[in-house]
Amino acid sequence: SAAPTAATPEAGTGVFSKTRARISERTLRTDRWWIPPLFTVLGLAAFVIYATIRSYVRTAYWVPDYHYLTPFYSPCLSTSCVEGSSHFGTPFGELPAILPLGFVVLPFLLGFRLTCYYYRKAYYRAVWFSPPACAVAEPHAKYTGETRLPLIIQNVHRYFFYVAVVVSVINTYDAIVAFHGKDGGFGFGLGNIVLWVNVILLWAYTLSCHSCRHIAGGRLKNFSTHPVRYWFWTQVSKLNTRHMALAWTTLGTLVLTDFYVMLVASKTISDLRFIN
Ligand code: FES
Repeated sequence: SAAPTAATPEAGTGVFSKTRARISERTLRTDRWWIPPLFTVLGLAAFVIYATIRSYVRTAYWVPDYHYLTPFYSPCLSTSCVEGSSHFGTPFGELPAILPLGFVVLPFLLGFRLTCYYYRKAYYRAVWFSPPACAVAEPHAKYTGETRLPLIIQNVHRYFFYVAVVVSVINTYDAIVAFHGKDGGFGFGLGNIVLWVNVILLWAYTLSCHSCRHIAGGRLKNFSTHPVRYWFWTQVSKLNTRHMALAWTTLGTLVLTDFYVMLVASKTISDLRFIN
């Protein structure tokens, strides 16, 4: 058998504990187990890079003719926001360039996704290698899981969920406001479809959250005396089975929505208009 790797400590916990079989190979798997974590890390990195750049550029985030606002700048609450883009007023004055215009909710949305049960699985495997795949030993000597700092903070996920619901309401409001025509009044274009697909999928992702499922039907002694909560729990449970797919789909629709608004706002393309 191969010599113990440098990462194998003399004693430790988990796969390195003395009571485990003494296997020196990192894994006995012969398939390409590293492909899912590789694609996960590439996908997450691509989103983080795109979202960070777009959140800071402060250009092409609002289409005045049709009232399209990208979700990365919503709500826009400072006087640094371009005219018309602040649907909820401007309680904050000028913002220094170090703060993205969406600074009020971006940390909460980041926190919501970072503490999400699915994303934890994704980055624990793909970034932290803890472990990288089933039956592949992690490089860390100790495993304390989420029982102490910093990972015990993951338990605040349910509070991020509440904020995410509020943000989904705000995004829905933005999508309603966006039925605006060039000559005033009602208007409808491809941008509206893009915004609504994004908002519906954001709701689906948010409502499929494990915390939401627990809020809906957790801690009930019996379902028969709580028919409404039982019904809601049943619906959330169906969505919940798609949580991973929704987590990835919404990263995609967020980028596509922002990208579309950017193209129209910068006049690179013109919106395909059906009405006004
Ligand atoms: Fe993923 Fe709550 S578990 S958003």
